[in-house]
Amino acid sequence: MIKDRFSGKLKEMLSSDEWMILQPEYDPEENLKFESLFSLSNGYLGIRGSHEEGGKITLPYLYINGVFDKSETFMRELAALPNWLGIKLFIEKELIGIENCQILKFSRALDMKQALLAKSLILRDKKGRETLVEGIRFVSRANVHRMGIKLYVTPLNYSGIIEVENIIDGTIINFYDAPRFKVKHTYMTANEPLDKDGIYMEVATRDNHLHTGVGCRIEAYKNGKSILKNRMFHAFGEQGVEFGDFDAAEGETVEIIKYVSMYTEREAARYTLHTKVKEEIDGFMVKGFLEELEAHKTVYEEMWKAADIRIAGDFELDRAIRFNVFHLMSTGNENDSRVNVGAKLLSGEEYGGHAFWDTEIFMLPFFAYIFPETAKNLESYRYHLLEAAKANARKNGFKGAQYPWESADDGTEQCPDWTIEPDGSCYRCYVAVYEHHVTAAVAYGIYNYVKITRDLDFLLNQGAEILTETARFWASRCEYVAEKDRYEINQVTGPDEWHEPVNNNLYTNYLAKWNLRYVISLIDTLKKGHSKEYDTLMEKTGLTAREIKDWEIVQEKIYLPRKEGTDLLEQFEGYFKLEDVVIEKYDEHDWPVRPEALKTKRASQTQIIKQADVVMLLHLMGQEFTEDEIRKNYEYYEKRTLHGSSLSPSIYSVMGLKVGDDSKAYRYLKRAAFLDLLNLQKNTREGIHAANTGGVWQTVVFGFAGVSIGEDGMLTVRPHMPKEWEGLDFCLRHRNSRLRITISRDNSVSVKVLEGEALEVNVNGQIVKAVRE
Ligand code: BGC
Repeated sequence: MIKDRFSGKLKEMLSSDEWMILQPEYDPEENLKFESLFSLSNGYLGIRGSHEEGGKITLPYLYINGVFDKSETFMRELAALPNWLGIKLFIEKELIGIENCQILKFSRALDMKQALLAKSLILRDKKGRETLVEGIRFVSRANVHRMGIKLYVTPLNYSGIIEVENIIDGTIINFYDAPRFKVKHTYMTANEPLDKDGIYMEVATRDNHLHTGVGCRIEAYKNGKSILKNRMFHAFGEQGVEFGDFDAAEGETVEIIKYVSMYTEREAARYTLHTKVKEEIDGFMVKGFLEELEAHKTVYEEMWKAADIRIAGDFELDRAIRFNVFHLMSTGNENDSRVNVGAKLLSGEEYGGHAFWDTEIFMLPFFAYIFPETAKNLESYRYHLLEAAKANARKNGFKGAQYPWESADDGTEQCPDWTIEPDGSCYRCYVAVYEHHVTAAVAYGIYNYVKITRDLDFLLNQGAEILTETARFWASRCEYVAEKDRYEINQVTGPDEWHEPVNNNLYTNYLAKWNLRYVISLIDTLKKGHSKEYDTLMEKTGLTAREIKDWEIVQEKIYLPRKEGTDLLEQFEGYFKLEDVVIEKYDEHDWPVRPEALKTKRASQTQIIKQADVVMLLHLMGQEFTEDEIRKNYEYYEKRTLHGSSLSPSIYSVMGLKVGDDSKAYRYLKRAAFLDLLNLQKNTREGIHAANTGGVWQTVVFGFAGVSIGEDGMLTVRPHMPKEWEGLDFCLRHRNSRLRITISRDNSVSVKVLEGEALEVNVNGQIVKAVRE
């Protein structure tokens, strides 16, 4: 058992192996990856799994979701805020740390059940003194403004004075190890004692001057008695350090507890921040570290009851899937509709914390089925930013609402126009200029959210307004080509970013058509049965019967490329004329090897694609295509997809199952589930691939369990269990009920109602009544 690697109290506290992700040894090369894997988030903030004592190889970022800043960089990005992890222990000036000492024993483990990070180290300094340092940290979900660290420090072969530095580090800068991209997003407004002891630091973002306060207090106990002496606060520029010391005796364990709190001006007035933080810490200390941890664990217990997936007979995969669910559910925020979930969650700096289509297409289904309040917040986030999307459309010469390819806090386009190469040359980045399908994803997200949650109120009000404005965008984005009597979307990039730009990307055109079609019928429904909402919509959007008529024509005549006379859909106009290069080899991880042809040619000259594109369309709109079409297109494009994006394997897995390609589907699921754990994309140091976490969930639930909602609104379960699995078990919400779905090896299914009313479900083609357990 992994917990056997920990001693004493810690061992008793930790969970069994299916909940644990272990780092069994320290390898500096792997440290940044583990910082991402071991990041903790409570939805409000996220902190990477950096070591308390710091070090040279670290990207020790802490982000509060929604705190963005631009300063000298190309875009608004989540600002790295002061890091409060710092606890340094010294014996006669020697730091007890991984980089300074010989590591005699090393284990770190993420306990996903309790959402805490544990460590156990034996470190030997240059003079041969050995210290056992164990500990845990957590960011409370019971009270998102409380974070804590508890260390157990035991001198193994010496006695003496241990000096302590308790640190809040405000020097952290974004892109710390990337020359030219480095940027400091905050300036310091306070670095002072919290109270009679402790540290308080306040920083403000440089553009909007949004203040964040962070405070901490530290205590040391031996046998329940407080022993930290000679406390002293020093402000070292942007570092706040509190010194103290205690007498340590061989074989006797000292417990060090650090209590931390953070608030921003988004939750408390600027002039109250210091008091707010201090009072929060006082409250935390009165309650006690372990009691707060208990409350936090109770929240996670409930979250896991809702979200856990259990696979019997495939232990490693079961745990890897749990890992993905853990990070996704931890980052979702059920309390704040001003924040989204960034492409790297809150676990790393790539993409600046921006929301992409990743949210609606990959993550939203998980939240809609499991945590509908969070899903609603994600939808409301887009509604709050509707005006900004309208301004974005105007800026680009279009009508309606064009959602930015990358979205931060204010809804303006945050995809950089330029990027800098190491030689200082700048290269123009055209992604935001051409990649427009995010606007369709927002529209599709509303449809899907409502289909799953039945939140009709949202659909008839905010949803209808967004859908109208996005439809208006698409109508203005389409060009009428008289000689062909059709509408086209030219100079556009589809999901496959290796062909940029193209004309008439099928995915984009199809979803534009769908958006127009869907809103036309929605408006009709409003007109017939919801006159109040209809009137409001008309008034707010200024929509006319004439405009709707025009939309009818546009959607009817949008060009949808395909190979004439065949079932093959064409990714974009002219795709089939490109050199036909196919994938022929797979590496030891069963991953496609870049075809030789790409040594002399760019992918854009060939049919090799980065990620699911036509296949993504079939995933979203499968009901509009025949089984034959789906199979033939899957087979065609699968041989030409290199999965250069993490947004691809999960979709190929789900679609593989649809077409009966079971063994590949299983391999794709493995790829997706281990993508970050094994660093398969080689960039996990930059953060967890958020879309993939949602994709993994979809692969299991929509793919292997075969869950879907029919046009009649009935939940369908039609599993395809891989031969490796003995059983599959998970929960989801449908209508007003919470259901447990259990699937056996032979694909037989039991659906039980855990909460709410009994209901009918279509299981393997039979209508069955699901009743209470
Ligand atoms: C993918 C996009 C994705 C983005 C953020 C890119 O590499 O091609 O589809 O939205 O990453 O995850």
